[in-house]
Amino acid sequence: MHAPDFSLNNKLALVTGSTQGLGYAIACAYAASGATVIINGRDIARVEAAVARIRSAGFQAQGWVQDIADLQGQRQAYEQLQVQVGTPDILVNNVGIRIRKSLGASTLDDIAQMMQVNLVAAIHLSKLAAAGMMAKPAQGGRIITLTSIAGPLARPGDAIYPIAKLGLQGMVHSLAVEYGPYGVTSNGIAPGTFATESNRELAADPIRGPVVVGRNPLGRWAQPGEIAGAAVFLASPSASYVNGHVLVVDGGFSVTF
Ligand SMILES: NC(=O)c1ccc[n+]([C@@H]2O[C@H](COP(=O)([O-])OP(=O)(O)OC[C@H]3O[C@@H](n4cnc5c(N)ncnc54)[C@H](OP(=O)(O)O)[C@@H]3O)[C@@H](O)[C@H]2O)c1
Repeated sequence: MHAPDFSLNNKLALVTGSTQGLGYAIACAYAASGATVIINGRDIARVEAAVARIRSAGFQAQGWVQDIADLQGQRQAYEQLQVQVGTPDILVNNVGIRIRKSLGASTLDDIAQMMQVNLVAAIHLSKLAAAGMMAKPAQGGRIITLTSIAGPLARPGDAIYPIAKLGLQGMVHSLAVEYGPYGVTSNGIAPGTFATESNRELAADPIRGPVVVGRNPLGRWAQPGEIAGAAVFLASPSASYVNGHVLVVDGGFSVTF
């Protein structure tokens, strides 16, 4: 008998961009599954508030205030984090920003910022995290990256985000082949339309909001907590042979037309 094991006991999990939204939901699920979670964001008060909420629920959390797009700062801060808190066994690359513009309307700054925050920062942090994970090979390691159904799918007026997200999908594959031999797996989660703070305006839009819901076979937005099962599974011992996969969590949105 081989019972599935979704426990994250004794694991240290860093979730980037986890003061709100999907990152916070993933951090809560990891903490409830036994991990010590590291909450990350740019604002100390928001990081401390999220840490306090998780601790007050009886779980383990630490804070890491760091703009992950600041690559030099990221390297130094990650080294400090490893000394002060420990070497993460699990990294979730969750930070993502979206400047909704056509390519024609996008400035060079828009393009550079979207690529830096969404793609380059995750590549760099994954490299740092994988090095730490490989240094303790008995533990293995997990890198999980939030891509999107945007990437394989594109929409007019929203040009750069899908480019960056499809780049992340390539990163998921590259990490899987480079670090798999060292016991570090790399997988992605491609969310569909979740009712997070960043989607509040779209959800409330009387024209675009119903279009999103109408296309979805489940006929609704997802709640942030509905990302938890996929995120815990991919981090857990039960996903030991899953490597280089992107798990779509979209209610069937991307298979309808
Ligand atoms: N929501 C969806 O429907 C959906 C769909 C597909 C894919 N996704 C992807 O899922 C991920 C999470 O989405 P979300 O909607 O939950 O995002 P969100 O609500 O906008 O939250 C973003 C989080 O990232 C943090 N953050 C932003 N820039 C940062 C930086 N440079 N350094 C460190 N932290 C930073 C923010 O914290 P502070 O502001 O406190 O720093 C916040 O905690 C993103 O990658 C997104 O592209 C979401």
